[in-house]
Amino acid sequence: MSALTTRPSDAEGLVDRHTPLVELKNRLDASGANLAQLSAALYKQKNAQIAANLYTQDRYCATGSDATAVICDPHHDQSRTCVSWCVNHYTGLNRHPEVLRAAQEATEQYGTGAGTSGMSGGMCDVHKQLESELARRVAKPAALLFPTGYTANLGALSALARSGDLILFDRESHASIIDGIKMSGAKWLPFRHNDVADLERKLAHHGSRYRDVLVVAESAYSMSGDFAPLADLVALKRRYQFRLYIDEAHAFGFYGQDGGGYCRQLGLSDDVDFVMSTLSKSTGSLGGFIACAEQYIPLLQWCANSYIFQACVSPADAAAALASLRLLRSPSPVVQRLHENNRYMRDALQAVGIDLKNSQSPVVPIYIDQPERLLRVNRRLYENGVFSVSVVYPAVKPSEGRIRLIVTARHSQQNIDYTVRQIVQCLASEG
Ligand SMILES: Cc1ncc(COP(=O)(O)O)c(C=O)c1O
Repeated sequence: MSALTTRPSDAEGLVDRHTPLVELKNRLDASGANLAQLSAALYKQKNAQIAANLYTQDRYCATGSDATAVICDPHHDQSRTCVSWCVNHYTGLNRHPEVLRAAQEATEQYGTGAGTSGMSGGMCDVHKQLESELARRVAKPAALLFPTGYTANLGALSALARSGDLILFDRESHASIIDGIKMSGAKWLPFRHNDVADLERKLAHHGSRYRDVLVVAESAYSMSGDFAPLADLVALKRRYQFRLYIDEAHAFGFYGQDGGGYCRQLGLSDDVDFVMSTLSKSTGSLGGFIACAEQYIPLLQWCANSYIFQACVSPADAAAALASLRLLRSPSPVVQRLHENNRYMRDALQAVGIDLKNSQSPVVPIYIDQPERLLRVNRRLYENGVFSVSVVYPAVKPSEGRIRLIVTARHSQQNIDYTVRQIVQCLASEG
């Protein structure tokens, strides 16, 4: 595939080539640009980044997700073997022989694809076993399986609140949480990231004016790798009337007994009303779920459109997730390895003076706040065999760009040592 060709743009001259495309769109939106102007400007911006070899988002992996992979750049007809850091397969179970075998056997037994939604007969016994196991694993009475983690948040949050209710959510919440909240029709307000005092002020000021209040947070944050103050949130719940919804996408599988998540690790499963997670990360599959009291299940089934009107996960994906869950029972060697690698990576980066801020989970952010430098450093990393996509707005605030390294159980200490050396050199040479 060749580089995109430049087209004349009505918005020419508005931005420099390093501005993230959505930031550019928002600026043009504010100046009243129409669709033709927006699309031309974004086309031009992407093209400028490609021409300078700064555009990472179209790169793909020819060999599948693993610690090292062949990463192709379609715009420059290049491919390179790299240490790969951008996939959330924390435990590496997507490559485990038992997981592969389970997916193959389920395909032979049930065929490919589910064909329809769980509400219209798309589930088979393997889906039902998975729902029971997920509920048990996160120590909640019931679980409902959604096609993806994104649509679990989208559907569940749109179903759990409506006009007359209030949703307070952490400002760094994932887009799927924010989209679900917006779809609900409830009044919504963000609170400052991990700031329980700010949440309390908002509860005290607004809470009593609404019929029901829902508070939403992630247990481990996807972009910064820090943990939510879950015990404080639960303590607040004892003083104010609200329900608590926790997204465990970046903790389920490798924190807590049997990988049951961070709420379970802290002994707070009973205090959290809704535990959400995904099957695409630590269990190396696809799907999402909400675990909660039995009483909420019919409401979720009948009021979450993404549950009713979307085909459920394939039997192979359900079987792969079940096999992964068996391998995540404590003590799990892959979980131990993941935590060792995480410690090793953090120690190595901190030893060379890199500030990881509040990150603790295997999400390791290298903050580079000037957009131009971020893209240049990442270009050089790729040239030197280290790959991760540049994280820019809207995934993070415009001023908080970063290279996000996701540590997995499949990485070796040599992979880590090599990457840290390259980070140091590339940061220095692109100073
Ligand atoms: C915090 C969080 N919630 C939900 C999701 C959506 O999960 P999935 O990609 O499995 O749909 C993600 C995925 O990136 C996430 O990071």
